[in-house]
Amino acid sequence: MNKVTKALITGVTGQDGAYLAESLLSKGYQVFGMYRRRATDPFDNIEHIKNKINLVSGDLCDGHSIQEVIEETNPDEVYNLGAQSFVKISFNQPHLTRDINFYGVDRLLHSLSKLKKEVRFYQASTSEMFGEVLDTPQSESTPFNPVSPYGEAKLAAHELIQEYRKRGMFCCGGILFNHESPRRGLQFVTRKITHSVAKIHLGLQEKLSLGNLNAERDWGHAIDYVEAMWLMLQQDTPDDYVIATGKKITVRDFVESAFKKIGKEIEWEGKDLDEKGYSDGQVVVDVDEKFFRPNEVKLLLGDPSKAKRVLGWEPRASLEGLVYSMVENDLNLLKE
Ligand code: NAP
Ligand code: GDD
Repeated sequence: MNKVTKALITGVTGQDGAYLAESLLSKGYQVFGMYRRRATDPFDNIEHIKNKINLVSGDLCDGHSIQEVIEETNPDEVYNLGAQSFVKISFNQPHLTRDINFYGVDRLLHSLSKLKKEVRFYQASTSEMFGEVLDTPQSESTPFNPVSPYGEAKLAAHELIQEYRKRGMFCCGGILFNHESPRRGLQFVTRKITHSVAKIHLGLQEKLSLGNLNAERDWGHAIDYVEAMWLMLQQDTPDDYVIATGKKITVRDFVESAFKKIGKEIEWEGKDLDEKGYSDGQVVVDVDEKFFRPNEVKLLLGDPSKAKRVLGWEPRASLEGLVYSMVENDLNLLKE
């Protein structure tokens, strides 16, 4: 009889954790999902599969709990998706961000190295590590130059997994560019836009206030990206891969696309902090200084050719389809 593969996902309650859990369950895995204690119910994203996952309680900031989770689950594959993932807040909470995003990885790898078996480890690295743009499109050989505490902590973790790889552990770093979905947290710009557009459409909000409209991102769909995580761990040798669409648009373009879904065309007037987006003569978008960051990654555009060549991975979702599904989802949620 074939042995069932056991996967441990940290950050199972997040956007990617939920999609990855669904995908691994469909592949016949036994899935363990690590979640941290919260005062309110943290299971919105995984309510529908909660009884199929083995939920284990642990916190990346706590070495004891990590040790216990590893001993209890004895995993074959570990997907470390748990993180303080919001770049802006990392400027206000740099220590917490480093504790979770770097030392958390250190704690996990230390506990895993004690297991007497080969474990395959996926680390959620990020395009934010590229930071200030030196070269574009960004590939596995582009130098890193992070400009946020989040990016710095993730880079330290990325270097740590490379170190463990040299010691013989099967560790992969997925350098994932921004990926979104209807499950995206409300703080991130795409979901903030689609949720606000839905509210404006339903007459629940007048306008949407944003920060840097000129930022450019390479936005893909989270469902495609979790497949790439799994593919990395199925290879003969561990490696790092850029996962991206190879296309970029500005925040402003994303706003236009979301409003198009509700039949509104946006006309822009003014510059910088005075820029405004109008629809039928009404201001529906403006700029607020409080949404700017002390330092900004202005442009992210990935070159996923290695992932295509080695993993056979390609993004399937279109950006328009992604935006429309997010607006549609928010409209439905708000109508409930
Ligand atoms: P997300 O929705 O913010 O999910 C983060 C998860 O980490 C949540 O389940 C969160 O739990 C958990 N977490 C936070 N602090 C923790 C701690 N101290 N101990 C244990 N778990 C903790 O993020 P995501 O978009 O799914 O991203 C998944 C991973 O990929 C993250 O590491 C992120 O940095 C990285 N990444 C994301 C993108 C992207 O565009 N989405 C791109 C590149 C890399 P709670 O639910 O309790 O908060
Ligand atoms: N969140 C937010 N809110 N961002 C805004 C806003 C706003 O009101 N206005 C403009 N932006 C700009 C940000 O300045 C940034 O340039 C861009 O929109 C995207 O911001 P986020 O959606 O917060 O994502 P991020 O790029 O900072 O980080 C995400 O992607 C990384 C990969 O590149 C996160 O998912 C990270 O965890 C991930 O590593």
